[in-house]
Amino acid sequence: MSIVYDAAARTITLNTRESSYQMQIGPLGHLLHTYYGRRAEGNFGALHLKKDVGFSPNPHALAAVTRGWSLDTLPQELSGANSGDFRTPSVCAVTEDGRRGAELRYVRHEIRPGKYALNGLPAAFDPAGEAETLSVTLADEVLGLEAELLYAVYESRDLITRALRLRNTGKGALRLEKTASCCLDLPFGDWDLLHFHGRHAMERQPERLPMMNGVMRLGSRRVASSHQHNPFAILCNRHATEDAGDCYGLMLVYSGSFELEAEKDQMGSVRLTAGLLSEGFSWTLQPGESFDTPEALLCFRHDGLNALSQRYHRFLRRCLCRSPFSTAERPVLLNNWEATYFNFDRDKILTIAREARDLGAELFVLDDGWFGRRNDDRSSLGDWFVNEEKLPGGLEPLIRGVKELGLQFGLWVEPEMVSEDSELYRAHPDWALGVPGREPALSRSQLALDLSRSEVTDWIYETVAGLLRRYDIDYIKWDFNRSLTDLYSPALPPERQGELAHRCTLGLYSVLERLTAEFPHVLFEGCAGGGGRFDAGMLAYFPQIWCSDDTDPIERLTIQRGSCYGYPLSAVGAHVSASPNHQTGRRTPLDTRAMAAMASGFGYELDPGRLSEEEKERIRGQIRRFRELEDFAREGDLYRLTELDDKRDYEAWQIVSETKDESLVNLIVTHPRANPRPLHLRLKGLDPAARYRLEGLETFAAYLPEPPEPLPEIFSGAALLYAGLTLPRMMGDYPCVQIHLKRAED
Ligand code: GLA
Repeated sequence: MSIVYDAAARTITLNTRESSYQMQIGPLGHLLHTYYGRRAEGNFGALHLKKDVGFSPNPHALAAVTRGWSLDTLPQELSGANSGDFRTPSVCAVTEDGRRGAELRYVRHEIRPGKYALNGLPAAFDPAGEAETLSVTLADEVLGLEAELLYAVYESRDLITRALRLRNTGKGALRLEKTASCCLDLPFGDWDLLHFHGRHAMERQPERLPMMNGVMRLGSRRVASSHQHNPFAILCNRHATEDAGDCYGLMLVYSGSFELEAEKDQMGSVRLTAGLLSEGFSWTLQPGESFDTPEALLCFRHDGLNALSQRYHRFLRRCLCRSPFSTAERPVLLNNWEATYFNFDRDKILTIAREARDLGAELFVLDDGWFGRRNDDRSSLGDWFVNEEKLPGGLEPLIRGVKELGLQFGLWVEPEMVSEDSELYRAHPDWALGVPGREPALSRSQLALDLSRSEVTDWIYETVAGLLRRYDIDYIKWDFNRSLTDLYSPALPPERQGELAHRCTLGLYSVLERLTAEFPHVLFEGCAGGGGRFDAGMLAYFPQIWCSDDTDPIERLTIQRGSCYGYPLSAVGAHVSASPNHQTGRRTPLDTRAMAAMASGFGYELDPGRLSEEEKERIRGQIRRFRELEDFAREGDLYRLTELDDKRDYEAWQIVSETKDESLVNLIVTHPRANPRPLHLRLKGLDPAARYRLEGLETFAAYLPEPPEPLPEIFSGAALLYAGLTLPRMMGDYPCVQIHLKRAED
């Protein structure tokens, strides 16, 4: 049993293999959060002193007995509003007669096997039958509000999921104003917030800041999780490193507007809440109706950030993403975007596809520009029929040609959008979001469709399903190239306009649910102008997401590092592109580009016709190597070998197979120096008792100033873990080395 109720202590404890999470029912039924941390037994209620700190009110029925018991100072399992806790609220509702807030008290709880599901939202599932669910019902009888707190414990995975189901049990309508998925109070400790911010072509830059007094708030108003902030953050002990120290992760399974707030209060206690963006949000519940929040995935590790990331990686691959591709081999693709942009015809595409096949690619992807009259980004979104000028005879002959080469065929679509210059817009101008009487803001010359409307989501589903039924398509790149603003839907009454943003995200999920269920054999890759929607909500449907429009391998190192604090490498779509790079103009070696891109969504995005014979030969070798390493690279554990704030001239990471029989060490020099410090790496995750053979050192020989002293070929695991490995000096622009370690037979 991973969930234990102690009736005498009134505690409910959730145990994973290495963590414990406890709540306690207070004297009046308020649900306190007593502990989350390394696995331990006990009643942790006594950790929290009931002390009067002044100006922190007491529940009326307790005030005569003590001034020490306050919702404002004790850790809460789900904070209310307007009822004596002045810290960040999690839930707030308003009745028709204007009673506003939430004061929630225990009604009942239930522990049952299996994993709960959420209405209309992606959520983790339970493939191995290991999850246990806790449902705790709290109520505010004055408002007629019931809050069902849902938890699922994945004991062996050190993961706890949380969500909230809010019900109107009253007689009149209830308006929800705030609905956080999760509230985590940590009364003790000195914490840093590690979060991931950025912009287009520079997503998920890790930033680690000490918690300040007050509120640190991040999120998105874009109806997309966004390039700018990610719905994942970590609270880690001030001294935590990649390999030691307490860390808490909080990831939202959500792709729309969200908020994540981290508050350090007057007593130094930290509260982390996350959920739907409350600004501009409201949701009306009629009597008897309920509302589910997105799910939050919580993980605690006592042994550093690498261990935390690894738990998320395995969990997302196995228990969140339903695509069979999540844990399977993916084809190596060649995408024509950076090869041609909009400028192509059938012959050009078939030439590229033939050359891609000769390089060893397995999937050819036709990107933007194949439909409507799309010759630049100003028109035709919505007109998902073939541009006959470029592709006479339609897609059939092209696909046939690609398939005859022995390649799979993939297609780009951006079905949530519409161009003003399109047949779709001329037929249905009201399908685009926009406030009546005001010209809506354009972005990339396009408008966004109103996915809160079922006729729009039905049309999107039919359009994409139609393409998949009609053509022999193996892969879809699903793009989304603007942020949403001018939110107004003629389909919603005035008092429900605050529901629109969330309804659009729910509309998207309904389409993805239908399409991925009907076409499980199609590999879907998410994309949003690169990584503008790189989140667990999208990963529930799509096993991989194009990580960034910046294909410069050196820039990618930070973007991918930031992405992989929470998301697995197997979710990262990454391509080798041309040098000089189209985004930065930087020149980098081909091997460095390939090493940076060797995630599971591996491919090329360049014109093979412009490659030299030598480069082509190298690419053939890269694809063969990727195939050899792919399985364990996808399923293995990722270790960052450098600390975030190291003053270093390289980036290095390692993948270790589950059996610890194999490992891959990757290093890229990011700042060549005249007189560099030694390149010394202490490896991680190996079996200290094993002996490992090192292969692949020759891959970096080209960049050495002089022949290196030969390294021994066999090392003990202990030597690599404790003493490490010093690599020979490498010179030139961005050299790299990839070392393959294999357990040596005795
Ligand atoms: C977005 C994507 C790119 C490419 C273009 C096409 O920017 O991220 O990879 O598909 O759209 O317009």
